[in-house]
Amino acid sequence: MKIDTKALVEKYGTPLYVYDFDYITNRYTTLKDAFSGKKSIINYAVKANSNLSVIAHLAKLGAGADCVSIGEVNRALTAGVDKYKIIFSGVGKRDDEIREALQKDILMLNLESEAEMKRVELVAKELGKEARISIRVNPNIDPQTHPYISTGLHENKFGVEIDMAKRMYIYANKSEFLNPVGIHFHIGSQLTKLDPIRESAQIVADLVRSLKAIKIDIKFFDVGGGIGVVYDDEVTIAASDYTQAIFRATKGLDVTLLCEPGRYMVANAGVFFTKVLYEKNNDGKRFVIVDGGMNDLIRPSLYDAYHKIEAIGVEGEKTPADVVGPVCESGDFFGKDVPLPPLEHNDLLVVHSAGAYGFTMASNYNTRAKPAEVALQDGEDRLIRERETYEDQVRLELKYL
Ligand code: LLP
Repeated sequence: MKIDTKALVEKYGTPLYVYDFDYITNRYTTLKDAFSGKKSIINYAVKANSNLSVIAHLAKLGAGADCVSIGEVNRALTAGVDKYKIIFSGVGKRDDEIREALQKDILMLNLESEAEMKRVELVAKELGKEARISIRVNPNIDPQTHPYISTGLHENKFGVEIDMAKRMYIYANKSEFLNPVGIHFHIGSQLTKLDPIRESAQIVADLVRSLKAIKIDIKFFDVGGGIGVVYDDEVTIAASDYTQAIFRATKGLDVTLLCEPGRYMVANAGVFFTKVLYEKNNDGKRFVIVDGGMNDLIRPSLYDAYHKIEAIGVEGEKTPADVVGPVCESGDFFGKDVPLPPLEHNDLLVVHSAGAYGFTMASNYNTRAKPAEVALQDGEDRLIRERETYEDQVRLELKYL
C-alpha cells in the first residue's frame, strides 16, 4: 500500500485502521476469474470485516455475503448485497433471527443440526413460507490449521455428519415448508494446504450424487471459506489451484459453486497504525508501549497470531522489543521480540495484515473507544467509520443513572 502515512495519521489520528479498496478489488477479481466458465457466487464472509463500506465495495463488484447473525444479514442488505446472494450460517440461530431472515427472502439458511431444521420448519410454517435451506456437512477432515479456527472435525461443534445430513435432506425434501437447495462445508480458517479442501469437496460431492440418485436435486454447492493468506512467510493456495480442485470434485454436477472467503479478501488490504507512547526496560527486557491495545486488535493475544510490525521513517539499530498496549492484561501485546529501532514518543508503528478479524473483533474493554476506519481507493482516502467517543460508549447506560 503506497500512502503518505504521516499525513493520514495526522488527519485521522491513532489508533487507526486503513483498508486498501483497490487491493480488495484485485482479490475479488482474481478469485472470481478463477471460477470462470462455471456458475459461481463469491459470498464474502462478512465477519472478517463488516464495515458497511467494505461490504458495499464488494457488493458493487458482484459479491454476495455469508452471514452468521441477523445483524450481519442486515449489514449485507444495507450495503446493497442482492438478497438472493445472501446466506445465513451459524450453529445457534434464534427464532427471531430465523423469522427475519425468512421474511427478508435471502438465498438460503445454512443449517447445522436436526433440531435447528425443525425450528426453521416451524417458523416457516408460522409464516406460511417455504424456507430455502442448505445443510452444513462436517466431513471429519483435519484442516491442518490452528485448533481454534478448525471446524471440520467431528470434535468441533459445526455441521452434521454425512449420514445425519442425508436423513435431514430426506426429511426436508418431504416437508411442505422446507426446500433443500444447497449443501455446505467449511473445515477451518487460514488454510494453507489444498488436500483437506479437495478431500472434503469430494466427500460432499459424493453426497450430492447419492442425493441425486434419490431425486433430491442440490443446486448450490458451497465450499465455505478459509483460504489462507500471508502473514509471515506462509505458502498459500493459488486461486486457480483452489477452483480446479473444486471443479474436479464436482465434475458432472449441475450446481452453482459458492465460496465464502473472508480473510482472503481483506486481511492484507488492511493495516493498523498505532503511535508509540513510551519505551521502557524491565531488567533488560525492552517494551514499546503504544496507544493501540488488544481491545483494538486481539489476534496476537487470542491466537498468538503473528502480525508483522514496522516502525515508519525511523532509522537506527534494531533490537528486540515487545510491542504492548495500555490495557491491564499481560496478554495485551501485538508482537514479541519485534526487531525495532530506538523509538520516541509519537513515532508511528504499522501492524500489517490487520484487515480481517481486526476491527470486527474489537471491544470497548477498559472503556477504550474503538478506532476510526479509513478507506483508500484510486489514490484518495475517505473516512468509513468515525472514531468512537466516550459519549457513544455510555449512551445506552446514561439514562438509567
Ligand atoms: N464461512 C464460515 C462458515 C466460517 O465459519 C468462516 C469463518 C468463514 C466462512 C470465513 O473464513 P475465512 O475465509 O475468513 O478464513 N477470528 C479468527 C477466524 C475465525 C473464522 C471463523 N469462521 C481469526 O482471527 O483468525
